[in-house]
Amino acid sequence: MKLDVQKNQVFWQNGLLDRSQREKRNEHKGTVVWITGLSGSGKSTVASAVEYNLYQEGFQTVRLDGDNVRHGLCADLGFSIEDRQENIRRVGEMAKLLLEQGMVVIVALISPFAAARQNIRNSMEHGDFIEVYCHCDIDICKERDTKGLYAKAEQGLISMFSGVSAEYEAPISPELILYTGVDDANTSISQLTNYLKHRLVAG
Ligand code: ADX
Repeated sequence: MKLDVQKNQVFWQNGLLDRSQREKRNEHKGTVVWITGLSGSGKSTVASAVEYNLYQEGFQTVRLDGDNVRHGLCADLGFSIEDRQENIRRVGEMAKLLLEQGMVVIVALISPFAAARQNIRNSMEHGDFIEVYCHCDIDICKERDTKGLYAKAEQGLISMFSGVSAEYEAPISPELILYTGVDDANTSISQLTNYLKHRLVAG
């Protein structure tokens, strides 16, 4: 049963530390970096390397990868439209809790629905949600097929597969587009690392 925040059944608990204190000590802003794209478009590769680069430079980072959250937090969810909506919602809510701790939260999630991504953006302060699109042609994703899932989807062994038998809505105006189908991985990783370094430390 869902508890009702509106009816004062649950109450937000402030800690003794707030986000701005943590950001001051970290010497950088917190943010949610939401990496969206097809399976095989390079989201996880980019997320891991950017996390590593930022960590090396002293940033407080945390990474939420769709494959990983589906091992636990979202292990009860499949790939129906409803389950994906719930997957996106849960990861979005987790990202916001971590943002409140001043973290740079790097999310790598197919998150195929533009409206669901927009809902998360709308629920945050302007500037806190950075949408990054791993733009990669589906044919290249299929060619790479690192997990062998496209082959299975084409054979009908996996249903509701994004880009094959389920919809993927690309972002219309993301903060950053990485052309992971044509650029090599290091180019995309450097682009996002540099973008974040400037954005989180400047002003
Ligand atoms: S999302 O659509 O709900 O955002 P999410 O990013 O959590 O997807 O999970 C995607 C991962 O699940 C893929 O990287 C792939 O390894 C795996 N997967 C298994 N079945 C599917 C499917 N039907 N469609 C897409 N990805 C799938």
